[in-house]
Amino acid sequence: MNGDLMVKDLHVSVEGKEILKGLSLEVKKGEVHAIMGPNGSGKSTFANTLMGHPKYEVTSGDILFKGESILEMETDERARAGLFMAFQYPVAIPGLTFGSFLRAALNARIAPSAGEDGKMPTKKGIPPKEFRDLMKKHMAALKMDEKFATRYLNDGFSGGEKKRAEILQMAILKPEIAIMDETDSGLDIDALKIVSEGVNTLSGPDLGVIVITHYNRILNYIKPHKIHVMKDGRIQATGGPELALELESRGYDWVREEVGTR
Ligand SMILES: Nc1ncnc2c1ncn2[C@@H]1O[C@H](COP(=O)(O)OP(=O)(O)OP(=O)(O)O)[C@@H](O)[C@H]1O
Ligand SMILES: [Mg+2]
Repeated sequence: MNGDLMVKDLHVSVEGKEILKGLSLEVKKGEVHAIMGPNGSGKSTFANTLMGHPKYEVTSGDILFKGESILEMETDERARAGLFMAFQYPVAIPGLTFGSFLRAALNARIAPSAGEDGKMPTKKGIPPKEFRDLMKKHMAALKMDEKFATRYLNDGFSGGEKKRAEILQMAILKPEIAIMDETDSGLDIDALKIVSEGVNTLSGPDLGVIVITHYNRILNYIKPHKIHVMKDGRIQATGGPELALELESRGYDWVREEVGTR
């Protein structure tokens, strides 16, 4: 039991209210897991907690990444260590271009010392030309217009463009564990295929993926090894791809009664 990401009996409170009530999950590199579950069951809370969002207080339990607890690590340290989150609602940052944001993030990941003292890591790290080529290559694969590199991050991006921008970040930053919070929401069918292909291209022995979703359709393209059902702040059922079909036809109400708590 030494997965690359190990979540042990995690309890998390937000503003004094307990939201996660004993979440346990193990994700190894090379695996794809899906988390489904009703609105408000705690899926985004889990993703935010994983990344170290300061509002989410871990009251008990632990998160181990590569065998070590990350609870004391700041968000940027977690990102540099190889955790990545694609947000359910990516925020716009007017004034910061997508290209310069991504280059700073990549430099922080590949040359952590370059970003110390709170300065933007512009001196060391990837040379500008090499970075532009890398960005162009991945943008072409995601069928994104190159002009996005010079636009402000997520500012005026359509819903689908924001989600593609998240995948582009993932492609360039090459995390070891990525959690995608409803990256499929708001994508039209072509974009869904492109984004799924992007994830499939990235997944492999060096990457573990957690896909949070409400819809089966993305699971037709991204094949999860396991599907978990989150309810009331815990994983209450785990199964193979067939579980998603059952949820689609039967909803979530039966989960606890028949499968029981675990
Ligand atoms: N920052 C916050 N402040 C206050 N309440 C919060 C915060 N984050 C989460 N919550 C509460 O925690 C509960 C779980 O929310 P969460 O966003 O994790 O659900 P979810 O499973 O992601 O739902 P959805 O499927 O709708 O995205 C909700 O009742 C929500 O209001
Ligand atoms: Mg959510």
